[in-house]
Order: sequence, then structure tokens, then C-alpha cells
Amino acid sequence: MVAEDRDVESSLRPKDLSEFIGQHRVREQLQLVLTGAQRRGTPPDHVLLSGPPGLGKTSLAMIIAAELGTALRLTSGPALERAGDLAAMLSNLVEGDVLFIDEIHRIARPAEEMLYLAMEDFRVDVVVGKGPGATSIPLEVAPFTLVGATTRSGALTGPLRDRFGFTAHMEFYEPADLQLVLARSARILGVDLRPEGAVEIAGRSRGTPRIANRLLRRVRDFAEVRGNGTVDRSTARAALAVYDVDELGLDRLDKAVLGALVRSFGGGPVGVSTLAVAVGEEPATVEEVCEPFLVRAGMLARTPRGRVATAAAWTHLGLVPPPDAVTGAGQAVLFD
Ligand SMILES: Nc1ncnc2c1ncn2[C@@H]1O[C@H](COP(=O)(O)OP(=O)(O)O)[C@@H](O)[C@H]1O
Ligand SMILES: [Mg+2]
Repeated sequence: MVAEDRDVESSLRPKDLSEFIGQHRVREQLQLVLTGAQRRGTPPDHVLLSGPPGLGKTSLAMIIAAELGTALRLTSGPALERAGDLAAMLSNLVEGDVLFIDEIHRIARPAEEMLYLAMEDFRVDVVVGKGPGATSIPLEVAPFTLVGATTRSGALTGPLRDRFGFTAHMEFYEPADLQLVLARSARILGVDLRPEGAVEIAGRSRGTPRIANRLLRRVRDFAEVRGNGTVDRSTARAALAVYDVDELGLDRLDKAVLGALVRSFGGGPVGVSTLAVAVGEEPATVEEVCEPFLVRAGMLARTPRGRVATAAAWTHLGLVPPPDAVTGAGQAVLFD
């Protein structure tokens, strides 16, 4: 992510639950978890936030700490390579702190095992020395709340998943919610965004607030350079055409994936790794970034034998679907 994006993103982050748009179920559930714990005067249960990128997991983690009035300590699965990395983090916690581990499914095994004990008993065993002389020293950890975020809850081990008291499943946003996100961001950024302009951008944001905000900034550039700064429907349409964002919001990578699936593999089934090689991407990116939306848009189905393009995908690419093409979402068995 470029620096400008990162700065803007943090200025656009909702700061408390009331500013957090959409995700009504998750918000209601979380509110109960937090209020219940506050009334009892104990740190809330550990929380797992699960869902595709850009839906508000990091924002929610920060909001949890803000609502509790405690500090947020931030780290990520890939940064916790050794158990010692985690022990250092844990020993610095103050009672009630929120420890946020992003991409928690990528945590290394020894750190994960240490985390079990910390989550359950608020203590860790630090092993000192090697071989027969090694001793393990128990270390107390201040009671804390772990908030884990993951784009792949299926990749979490059972024991880790079981230690979270609450899992929030983040869903893609409805266009109406994305319009609210856009209106709020436009207000903060000082963009003259008209309702029809918001409708146009929301419809192409793949159900994702981060993408909505990014498109808003690109459309703003276009409106300021080529127009008078106002973002109405026609400005939004013209701008999004320049940036290659199609009517459904599919971007280059989505289109490459669908194109390869249909043109090189006859619509599938094909394994995700093969598909990823065909588009020159990491399998994880294809799986975690592209596929959830393509599945939801009814373009791609995950089947036991591999990925399959639906009739809608062929049509979207301007091709005639073969007679045996699966039709729409929910038809084929969807798996994780
Ligand atoms: N519910 C929401 N309401 C308003 N803005 C949101 C919401 N969820 C996400 N955003 C916006 O999208 C951006 C990305 O959200 P983030 O929390 O970083 O997603 P994730 O961690 O799931 O990838 C945030 O900076 C924020 O501007
Ligand atoms: Mg995040």
C-alpha cells in the first residue's frame, strides 16, 4: 500500500462502534460481549474476526480497545516467528489490554502453542536452555483480551479456534451500506459526492469499504482534473472506466482469474494453485482476495474437484457458456 493510501485509510477509520457502518449482526453481538464484560469488570473473552480483506477487521480491533478504554498492542502472525517473540509481547501487557494479532492464521507453531496457555490461563512457560538441562520457567501474564483477525478461519487449528469465546464473521457490505461509507468518507475528505455518484461507486466496490474508499479517491482525482470536482453519476462512470473497474467492480486480477479459468481451462474444474500460476499470483492471494467475491458474485464455484466458472462468468466475459456450465451461486457445493 502506498503512503498516501495508508494515511488516508487511518483518517477514514471509524473510531467507535456507532461510527462503524453496516455489519449489524456483528455489531450487536460484539456490543453484548463488551458490555457484559464491562459490567462484570473483567476483560472480555478473546475475539476472532474473520473475513476477506478490507471489511473492517483492523478497524474493529481498534474499536474494541477504544470501547473498553484500554490500550491496543498490535502485532501479526508472520511477525511471531519464535515463541520468544510472543513471550516478549505478552510480558509487556498491562491488565485489560487488547492484544491484536493480525493474520493470526500465519503464526508459527511454537508461538501458537504458547498462545494457548496464555489465552486460557494467562501464563506462559518460557523454556530456558537446551537439551536435558533445559528448564521451563512459568511466567504470569496480565489478564488481557486477544483479538485475532484472519482472512482464512479455515486455516486456523482447532485448538486455537476453540480458545476464542466469540467469532465475528464479517460479511461483504450491501450497496446501501457502502453508500453510507462513501458519504462519510467524502465528508471527511471534503469531496462533493452526489448521491447518484455514491450509488455508482458503491455498486463497483466488491462489497468492500476499503475498495469503496480507494475508488472514491481515484474518482475524486478524475473529477478535479477533468471536471469541476463534483462527483455525480457521469463523472463516476467516466472515471471508473479510466481505471478499468467494470460494472461489477471486477479488477484486473479478478478478470485475469476468470479469463484463465474460462479460456485456458475450459471453465474448470481446476485446482487453485494451477489457476494462480496461470495468472502469476500467489495461491493465497487468489484464494483469499479474489475468490470470496467471485463466489459471492456467482461467477465462480469451489467444488471438491476444483474451481469452476459459472455460466454468469462466461457471459460476463462476453462468451457463450457451454451447455453444461453451472448456473449461479449456491448451485455447486461451496467449500472452504
Ligand atoms: N464498517 C465500516 N464503516 C466505515 N468504514 C469502514 C468500515 N469497515 C471498513 N471501513 C474502511 O475500510 C478501511 C479498511 O478497513 P480495515 O479495518 O483495515 O479492514 P481489514 O482489516 O478487514 O482489512 C478502513 O480504513 C475504513 O476506512
Ligand atoms: Mg487489517
